[in-house]
Amino acid sequence: MRFTDTLPTPPAEALAHSEQLATRIRTAITANGGRIPFREFMQMALYEPGLGYYVAGSRKIGKEGDFITAPEISPLFSHCLANQCAQVLMELGGGDILELGAGSGVMAADILQRLEMLNCLPQRYRILDLSPELRDRQRQTLQARVPHLLERVEWLDRLPETPMRGVIVGNEVLDAMPVELFSLVGGEKVIRQVAMQGDGFGLVEVGGEYTSEFNPALPGWMRSMAEVLEAGVLLLIDYGYEHDDYYHPDRSQGTLICHYQHRVHNQPLLYPGLQDITASVDFTAVAEAGVDAGLELGGYTTQAAFLASSGLEDLFVQALQDNPANQYKLAQQVRTLSLPSEMGERFKVIALSKGFSAELVGFRFADQRHRL
Ligand SMILES: C[S@@+](CC[C@H](N)C(=O)[O-])C[C@H]1O[C@@H](n2cnc3c(N)ncnc32)[C@H](O)[C@@H]1O
Repeated sequence: MRFTDTLPTPPAEALAHSEQLATRIRTAITANGGRIPFREFMQMALYEPGLGYYVAGSRKIGKEGDFITAPEISPLFSHCLANQCAQVLMELGGGDILELGAGSGVMAADILQRLEMLNCLPQRYRILDLSPELRDRQRQTLQARVPHLLERVEWLDRLPETPMRGVIVGNEVLDAMPVELFSLVGGEKVIRQVAMQGDGFGLVEVGGEYTSEFNPALPGWMRSMAEVLEAGVLLLIDYGYEHDDYYHPDRSQGTLICHYQHRVHNQPLLYPGLQDITASVDFTAVAEAGVDAGLELGGYTTQAAFLASSGLEDLFVQALQDNPANQYKLAQQVRTLSLPSEMGERFKVIALSKGFSAELVGFRFADQRHRL
């Protein structure tokens, strides 16, 4: 992934699509007296029905998309998650899995395959995504990979009304939630607003030298997770930091970044609908919101430590035995998932539980709850 100031100009059709969304954003700005909070801009850019980045047709995740995620890098990632799910399902005597934001469906297929091998399939594997367009892609993946398990898979339009027992899992879901942008001006937080500027959009100037962001929806979202979970574990994987690191004085421009065709840049107001906008996750805020909602903090660690604790080494050895010709490829996948300079430390795993007291296997080597 390259950090860049210059971006390839999108094709005419994509620009026309973006212009349609820009018109809607302009209408919202006018209706709101000439400015809207950045959070609302981000909400529209990513999720405006039919037009937003995550809800319009283009392919986002994977080699032909804008960015690549851990389940797309290697099935070993999802197999480790499956090992953790198996422990929870066994302790509970069975249950369901609910995956939030399931992307291409590859993680669902890999988790189901591994759980089948462990003889520990969930009763149902449910998927909830804000992107209805991804359902077709997920169904195709599952149809191709685990057709005999498709009857266990269920797509939801909203969170289940009846509380569930089992595991709720989300990879890179929190970072896709709209954030409020703020600047510190004279020690006070000033929420940043977006206004029209020339043909495009600009942030309303407020002065101040420190800018960052927070996810205002987190407490409400956690309350709904706590309501949905009768017993079991909520497992979230994402890039981010603990509070003190997140708001470190040196991180004076916050963590907001954009992805466009495997390029990373920091111009979120450009090409609405065509690029991903994302912020790192404040895991202390996640833990606090969870505990306030009645969940218990079950574990927190780096992705590397979580994968190691969940059996990555054995899975790697097994995969090598199954397919020795893949040695280089598999070793490369493990490096990408685990090395500190790659995803190993930038990505964290947090577990919040309810009615579940067993120590979670994924945190047995290096539980870092004390850092939150
Ligand atoms: C960065 S993608 C990650 C996709 C996939 N988990 C992966 O790892 O490849 C984020 C996904 O989360 C979904 N999403 C965002 N907020 C969500 C929410 N509140 N509930 C469910 N899905 C959500 C988006 O629609 C998008 O599909």
